[in-house]
Amino acid sequence: MSVTLTKRKAAPKRSAVAKKKAAKQPAKKSGLRGKQSEKAKLYASLVVQLLSLLKGEHDFIANAANFSALLFNALPNVNWAGFYFLQGEELVLGPFQGNPACVRIPLGNGVCGVAAQQCETIIVPNVHEFPGHIACDVASNSEIVVPLFDGERLLGVLDLDSPLIGRFDDQDAEGLNELVTVFVGHEEGLIDDHD
Ligand code: SME
Repeated sequence: MSVTLTKRKAAPKRSAVAKKKAAKQPAKKSGLRGKQSEKAKLYASLVVQLLSLLKGEHDFIANAANFSALLFNALPNVNWAGFYFLQGEELVLGPFQGNPACVRIPLGNGVCGVAAQQCETIIVPNVHEFPGHIACDVASNSEIVVPLFDGERLLGVLDLDSPLIGRFDDQDAEGLNELVTVFVGHEEGLIDDHD
């Protein structure tokens, strides 16, 4: 199994600690530096677009729906993007883009349930090698799950699937963590409307 656990980036006011477990990074290829900077630019642009979508609107479900649509349409090779929100001891499907998905995931089950339980971002290069992976779309081959926090309280997870093996890397983890921090910060009223 090849799985990367990336310690979550904290909400804006908290310190961030990067930690890797069982990290098995793909070998660096020549020219990757240029490619990575393109990815960084894409995520920077997504932060601007997300802030624009959130501006003046504080309906959590509406904002989560637009956030998932933004990711689904802007990120290449993604076949599912959306949320699961914590209700008691299970995650319940929230706004998403992609094929219909399983509605309830107990904590500790599947990639989403493990990410939520461990409060860590999980990158799965090959979902077929992840014990207990829950297959909602047979087209999915890799996955990244990012937990959402309101301060210390776990709200749920953001989940992205791809038909490509190894689609998600540390830059995706960093970019998506920044985006969820912007999203949750907006919902908390911690981030201004950026006039
Ligand atoms: N694959 C996830 C289930 C959710 S779907 O991918 C949308 C998991 O293993 O938790």
